[in-house]
Amino acid sequence: MKDFIAISDYSSDEIKDLLEIAIKLKRQFFKKGNKPIFRGKVLGMIFQKPSLRTRVSFDMAMRHCGGDALYLSPSEIGLGKRESIADVARVLSGYVQALMARTFDHAHVVELAKWSDVPVINGLSDYNHPCQGMADALTIVETFGMKSKGLNVSYVGDGNNVAVSLMHVCAQLGWNFTIASPEGYDIEPNAVEIGLKLAKKSKSKLNFLRDPHEAVKKAHVIYTDTWTSMGQEEETAKRELVFPPYQVNAQLVSEAEKDVIVMHCLPAHRNQELTDEVADGPHSVIFRQAHNRLHAQKAILARLFDVV
Ligand code: CP
Ligand code: NVA
Repeated sequence: MKDFIAISDYSSDEIKDLLEIAIKLKRQFFKKGNKPIFRGKVLGMIFQKPSLRTRVSFDMAMRHCGGDALYLSPSEIGLGKRESIADVARVLSGYVQALMARTFDHAHVVELAKWSDVPVINGLSDYNHPCQGMADALTIVETFGMKSKGLNVSYVGDGNNVAVSLMHVCAQLGWNFTIASPEGYDIEPNAVEIGLKLAKKSKSKLNFLRDPHEAVKKAHVIYTDTWTSMGQEEETAKRELVFPPYQVNAQLVSEAEKDVIVMHCLPAHRNQELTDEVADGPHSVIFRQAHNRLHAQKAILARLFDVV
């Protein structure tokens, strides 16, 4: 593994291997603390958008394993504006041992990886959010076990970056993925095509629906995300008219399997896409899911640094 840009860049065995490493590192962390496997290494973190979880979990992942992290804000770097992406990548490659980048345009993180001599991790782009996808898979595996083929994962809402990575990780691991999204807010066709290829290999099913009630029937997992992603703020009012039927509330949850878990990558817009009652209710795993970012990312870093 040179970079971590998309879940679909890896084989399903590589994804399972990452999950196994994450489980081991999580156990080790809570037992005696992690070993200093990242000693002498610094992760440069380029952010073009705000972040709580991605920033803090990557920083802590490095520190827990004896390494360090450096936050580079949008105004400092001016990626592609003050300096070309290729030059930023080549300069930083001489200072840090890996890069994490949160960009608007997916092509920008790809460009960074092209020019960087050190591994590049995608910390969310407009296209996907693979680190989130790994933490989501870890959370599902912890709940239902690694051998949970045939599991039904239902995503309700915008066919956005988070939906893309979730669809791809489900298709890699043999879980059925269903999405209910309003017309005009579907997952982009290129991502669907990749997902269908992965699903064919793992013999899982992908379903693309409009009706959230139909989507959650037999669901073991209900997942939702914001109606308006970062960078789409000017569409907020329009989206708030379209998405209310896609709210994950107690009624919708009651239509799924009895032991369904409810997931959200966070930040949540409470009482929009997810009600307080559900977010803080017995089915919700949203905080364990957020904490799993830390453990999943330690596994990604460990593989990229080739220290496990
Ligand atoms: N889920 C997630 O990526 O959160 P942040 O935007 O806070 O990093
Ligand atoms: N889809 C959201 C995810 C935030 C973690 C966004 O891109 O803003």
